[in-house]
Amino acid sequence: MIDDDLGAALRAEAAELAPEIAEALREAMATVDRRTALPPGAEAALRGLDVPLPASGPGSAAILRRLRALIEVAGANTNGPKCFHFVIGGTTPAALGADLLATIHDTLTYTWITSPLGVTLELQALAWLRELLGLPRGWSGVMVTGASMANFVALAAARQWWGEALGVDVAARGLSGLPPMPVLSSGYVHASTRKVLALLGCGRDAVTDCSVEGGGRLDTAALRRELERLKGAPAVVVVNAGEVNAGDFDPLAEAIEIARRHDCWIHVDGAFGLFARVSPRTEHLVRGAEGADSATVDGHKWLNVPYDCGFAFVRSHDLLVKAFRYSADYLPAPDDPRPTLGAIGPESSRRARGFAVWAALAAYGSDGQRRLVEHNLDLALHLARRVDEAPELERLAEVQLNIVAFRFNPGGLDETELNELNQRLGVALIEDGRFLVGTSKLGAKTIFRPAFSNWRTREEDVDEFVAVVLELGRRLS
Ligand SMILES: Cc1ncc(COP(=O)(O)O)c(C=O)c1O
Repeated sequence: MIDDDLGAALRAEAAELAPEIAEALREAMATVDRRTALPPGAEAALRGLDVPLPASGPGSAAILRRLRALIEVAGANTNGPKCFHFVIGGTTPAALGADLLATIHDTLTYTWITSPLGVTLELQALAWLRELLGLPRGWSGVMVTGASMANFVALAAARQWWGEALGVDVAARGLSGLPPMPVLSSGYVHASTRKVLALLGCGRDAVTDCSVEGGGRLDTAALRRELERLKGAPAVVVVNAGEVNAGDFDPLAEAIEIARRHDCWIHVDGAFGLFARVSPRTEHLVRGAEGADSATVDGHKWLNVPYDCGFAFVRSHDLLVKAFRYSADYLPAPDDPRPTLGAIGPESSRRARGFAVWAALAAYGSDGQRRLVEHNLDLALHLARRVDEAPELERLAEVQLNIVAFRFNPGGLDETELNELNQRLGVALIEDGRFLVGTSKLGAKTIFRPAFSNWRTREEDVDEFVAVVLELGRRLS
């Protein structure tokens, strides 16, 4: 029997939802600048969640109230101005509002008829992004969850191209009987590229490292040597635009020119680094990217749209179709002239990421994006100055973009002791929670590598960060 009570109860709840959510939005926006980056004691606060599944519950109002309370005690404020870990972007008002609209309407962008608007906005936003980032107009593209999946899409297209060069449709037949696919890159290759090579059956260890001695930036002589060793066999070259420890770049234009002289697919991983293109101060770092075959860019990093959002750009639409096509009688026919985005990327059902991206680009334009990027470039330079001024802090790399590599160095300690001290300081900073920031390695040195990619961060946040690092560092040493 139809459960009319359920329908009536949920409709009544839904009618009351709007003011609740509006209040949550108002409060979140009013407090985002001052909420703690990572509330201390989150683990203890979450222990009460490990209970059996209830047979019935108190309904949405009580549960949403509980969720809001949990956010206060255990929700990291990654939308706020004090998160410098990984590369965490914020959300501009236009992007956040549009993303909420996509959710409110439960928008599905699998194919044209599930949302003519969502599909159109995605394609328009991708076209604008190509323009903003200096990528060729004729390239294809698709939105995905982030740069990891964008790398997956681009390298799936690369693998399809490589298979065709050997006479095999890899998407149809698999890799059986084929030699390993050569992948050449530098020490800057992102961990996610290795992960997607594992998923693609090429192996996470397939990457030949053509970096300068000791790892790091691509050595073009080594790339040339490795390509010559392949004697014309097709290969994939991954060039890294913006690596995560110091924001350095492989020499893009030169690497692409060398690879072009061989039978190569060239992929540029520019998750955040391709945004260097939008400022005259940094565009030289990514000049030449338009000569590649594919590129990865993140939305949730420097475009400041909500999680999750990334973009795969691929020169050949045809290869995307071949790599990702699938069909069934109940799905749109492959020759349907209206787009099915679910058939040129890994996800079938997919959310409307294009709402936020389109809204951000439409609301602020290329000038707004340039100002956002330059604001973060300025913050990085400000931090570099503050580090240079502080006798107990040591900067370890030139600041080219939005990352500052430095360590706490009070003097009198050897390298092992310094590494151990900075490791402990990293733990102390996370426990403290005023800033979300992490450690990494630059060569053998343990470093902090704060990355700026949120418009909300202010100079005073950077000053406070330096003060907190000094306060905790002095306490530990
Ligand atoms: C260069 C690069 N590629 C790929 C990724 C993976 O991005 P995501 O976490 O959006 O999947 C990152 C993340 O920091 C990155 O910096």
